[in-house]
Amino acid sequence: MAEYTNYHAPYVAAWRHLLFERAKWDPQQPRTVVEVGSYEGSSACWLMTELLRAPESRLYCIDVWTGEDGEALFQKFQANIAELPNAAQVETLRDWSQNALRELIRRKVKADLPPCCATSSPASTW
Ligand SMILES: C[S@@+](CC[C@H](N)C(=O)[O-])C[C@H]1O[C@@H](n2cnc3c(N)ncnc32)[C@H](O)[C@@H]1O
Repeated sequence: MAEYTNYHAPYVAAWRHLLFERAKWDPQQPRTVVEVGSYEGSSACWLMTELLRAPESRLYCIDVWTGEDGEALFQKFQANIAELPNAAQVETLRDWSQNALRELIRRKVKADLPPCCATSSPASTW
């Protein structure tokens, strides 16, 4: 079972309102989302479960997973993502956001959501 600090829970009502009611987001449509600041994967799991249900949809998860517990956090993230039925649609970029975003631009990846603050820190965005 997925194990993570549930960072995203306080934001779910607002995300649902903005995405489903205001933006008429259809999870069955192929979409691409870039998340900056994935940590243990709680918001990434929500994005994959709620927003990205089409087989062609993609989630790019960017995080540097640095510091003393960086490797343990990265492994927890990977284990949580691996439990998703659509885990193969998630690509992980372990790097600072400025490098990872440059790489996605180089690859001409186009996101369907502009980067915006997803959870507690401005660095955690999609
Ligand atoms: C509050 S946590 C994100 C929580 C996550 N969205 C969730 O729902 O579990 C912030 C994360 O952003 C990452 N981070 C902060 N600045 C970053 C940057 N410039 N580039 C890449 N990752 C960054 C940190 O390593 C940390 O894992």
